[in-house]
Amino acid sequence: GGEGDGETPASVGDIVHEGLRNLEYRGYDSAGVALVGPRSGLTVAKRSGEVDGLTVPDVPDATHGVGHTRWSTHGPPTDANAHPHTDCTGDVAVVHNGIIENYEALKAELADHEFTSATDTEVIPHLIEEALAADPDADLLDAVRRVESRLEGSYAICAVRKGDDRIVVARRGSPIVLGRGESAWFVASDVTAFLEHTRDVTYLEDGDVAELSPDGVQIFADGEPVDREIETVEWEAGAAEKGGYDHYMRKEIHEQPAALRQTIAGRLDVDAGDVDLDVSFPPGFLADLEEIQIVACGTSNYAGRYAAQLFEELSGVRATVEIASEYEFGAGRSPDRTLVVAVTQSGETADTLGAIRRANAAGARTFAVTNTLGSTITREVDGTAFIRAGPEIGVAATKTFASQVATLAMLGVAIGRERGALAPADARSVLEDLRGLPGAVQQVLDNEERVREAAREYGDSEAFFFVGRKLGVPVALEGALKLKEISYDHAEGFAAGELKHGPLALVTPDTPVLALLTDGSRAAETKNNVTEAQTRGAPAIGCVSAGKEYDTLDVSLPVPDVGIAEPLVANVYLQLFAYHVANDKGRSIDKPRNLAKSVTVE
Ligand code: G6P
Repeated sequence: GGEGDGETPASVGDIVHEGLRNLEYRGYDSAGVALVGPRSGLTVAKRSGEVDGLTVPDVPDATHGVGHTRWSTHGPPTDANAHPHTDCTGDVAVVHNGIIENYEALKAELADHEFTSATDTEVIPHLIEEALAADPDADLLDAVRRVESRLEGSYAICAVRKGDDRIVVARRGSPIVLGRGESAWFVASDVTAFLEHTRDVTYLEDGDVAELSPDGVQIFADGEPVDREIETVEWEAGAAEKGGYDHYMRKEIHEQPAALRQTIAGRLDVDAGDVDLDVSFPPGFLADLEEIQIVACGTSNYAGRYAAQLFEELSGVRATVEIASEYEFGAGRSPDRTLVVAVTQSGETADTLGAIRRANAAGARTFAVTNTLGSTITREVDGTAFIRAGPEIGVAATKTFASQVATLAMLGVAIGRERGALAPADARSVLEDLRGLPGAVQQVLDNEERVREAAREYGDSEAFFFVGRKLGVPVALEGALKLKEISYDHAEGFAAGELKHGPLALVTPDTPVLALLTDGSRAAETKNNVTEAQTRGAPAIGCVSAGKEYDTLDVSLPVPDVGIAEPLVANVYLQLFAYHVANDKGRSIDKPRNLAKSVTVE
């Protein structure tokens, strides 16, 4: 939001609308604005659909306003669930980015308030209303501060109120940046929103609350005014869309710590050794379960292969993975003792929908793990868990793979605990690994330079082989898929033990071998297979558990100690390798030839 600019005749509504257009790459399923003026009061307009489809009301006296483009995490993309959200009086409007983890408990407290959406966000304006009602001297800033102390989770909030000339903002976990224009102030979750107005920006820190008023900006930390540095953004407006990265894919690779944090937010109860995925099954269903069948395509299929191994270990149930386009329910199974889990980022892949329809027709119980609220698959299954990775634009899936595996791991724990197959102590250790995942991925990202060098040294090879065992197999397959998708080089992944049963015939000094040498991927045995390839002259690049050393590797990339999540963390090195090889070759990374993000034909 921001105030009208004296130089340009654009209205506040137009400025906010333009800001939303600039931010549309972050989410695009619903949009809305709230405009405030001395005579008009508070005017809200919102609807599901793209930003361009939103008609911003003409409010000539508007002095300030806020807007939002939504990418659903709680509640499907409907008009009612679009932001801004308002209180019962209709005087307060709030936009929010993030997840309020304790919204159910807060909502229960607000029993006499009428809620009009299924979002976590809506508790915020109602809590502000309560805070204002409880203390006649309290203003919007006081109210936001009081409310903020009660919220758990991650949020960037902007609040406005009828009759108040300020925008009050609060940040914890989700970014907020302020922009200082000539005659207007701006606030957004990304500088992209207002780069055409100003490049002088101030990033808020976690816990900061700020007010933007006609007198300027005041930032508070722990209730005390603080000064924060003003920085000048150097980017060109176009690059900023990708957050300063050259490609969405690289941005999305780097977003994985944040995406994983969102995936696990509020879902891990490490002390109790349990998870809250908000999914339910009919009584007795899990106890009698005989098989979990995972159906998926492409990268999601590899996430499924990772998960199938975890399911068997955590839940004691046989787990199989099928390529969705090959799936038949199959003889010898009993539908009421089979759970068919579709893994699909988009929720729209025709092959996966086809598999789920066949499973439904056979009478099996069906479930979806997806990134997309309101997608077709969610309407056709008995239950859904959302991976909350945020929008992924690059055709080659990266952060959604990580968030899918993390969500499936939590599902495995939930089923294992419910069936009594998983002891609390064992569950705790898995949950600790998951909790460590975002930080571990960040450590890998911090090593990007080493991967860039390896890409430069080996990128022009004739072919690339990716090997691992156990949990390393799906990651080897995914590593090879990523490379072939975006670099167009020949790459193959397989179980390391199979190298000697055929592919070794292709190995030469011009075919590097990339190996998973981590926990969960039988590092010692895999290393023997790598040595077999090295004996034929192949260079070897290994992702190696921290603290372990293999002197003979040509490149050794350390993987932090996170147990069963180590191969998933190592996958981030393979993503970076694929990215840099393709980038050095000048490939069309975000839109590789012949491929589409969401394939809606069988
Ligand atoms: C397409 C994409 C892949 C993706 C696959 C499955 O082929 O190019 O990146 O893995 O579809 O997509 P889904 O949305 O079902 O996960």
